Amino acid sequence: MGPRLRLVLAVGLDGRLAPPQGGAARLGGPADRRVLEECLAWADACLVGAGTLRVHGGTCLIHGEDLLRQRRRQHRSSQPHLLVVSRQGQLDGALSVFRQPLERWWLAPGQTRLDQAPPWFQGVIPLPHWQGLPQAMGEKGWQRLVVLGGAQLATTLAAHDLLHELHLTLCPQLLGGGHLWLQDGVLIPQNRWCPVESRPLGDGEWLCRWRRQSECGSSPGDPP
Ligand SMILES: NC(=O)c1ccc[n+]([C@@H]2O[C@H](COP(=O)([O-])OP(=O)(O)OC[C@H]3O[C@@H](n4cnc5c(N)ncnc54)[C@H](OP(=O)(O)O)[C@@H]3O)[C@@H](O)[C@H]2O)c1
Repeated sequence: MGPRLRLVLAVGLDGRLAPPQGGAARLGGPADRRVLEECLAWADACLVGAGTLRVHGGTCLIHGEDLLRQRRRQHRSSQPHLLVVSRQGQLDGALSVFRQPLERWWLAPGQTRLDQAPPWFQGVIPLPHWQGLPQAMGEKGWQRLVVLGGAQLATTLAAHDLLHELHLTLCPQLLGGGHLWLQDGVLIPQNRWCPVESRPLGDGEWLCRWRRQSECGSSPGDPP
């Protein structure tokens, strides 16, 4: 079985992941934060779009002592590796992500020339075609991948039918505007998704998890 991709997002009731003017919506409370950290603890690596880092500066880290202990017991790095998706790799070196205690890789889709990787990346992973993502991840030994957004990255992965699990925290807000978690105008394969879990997280938030229908009834061997 190839690497599993789990998309993890907090969204408003209207499916928006950012406010109308863009920037950070600051959705999700402490229980959602815990769910996110559990996903990070599960992951070998996380994918994040450069746009999200330009807005947020840094990425989410595992802080829970129990989760950090669990990873130590499993002889894994404290934090999953971070794969920054960018065509040109042009990110401001002053972003806080470049001081965070994790290993960063530049995932370069398309036909980018790769002779000038900025020094704050461990290395570059060229990706001429998105369909090559599972193989590229498999070659690194990364089997469990969390996708942290944003919308452009989520849309591309959905359009290429590369997502296996959706973890959406529905937050009790209507954000309005145009920042849907899947971008408009892109063809997405019409898979069905079967529900795995839905539970309240407090403060009106609901965690909803789905798996691709083709996998329902079979156990992929991982805890939720
Ligand atoms: N609520 C949530 O859970 C959540 C989570 C994440 C993000 N967000 C929000 O989402 C917004 C950012 O989303 P976004 O859609 O603008 O940005 P994004 O997907 O994070 O990043 C877009 C940029 O990443 C690179 N990229 C992403 N997908 C690519 C692809 N398929 N092919 C090539 N390059 C790709 C490109 O970087 P280059 O320009 O460097 O080539 C592109 O300009 C922010 O407002 C953020 O707050 C919300």
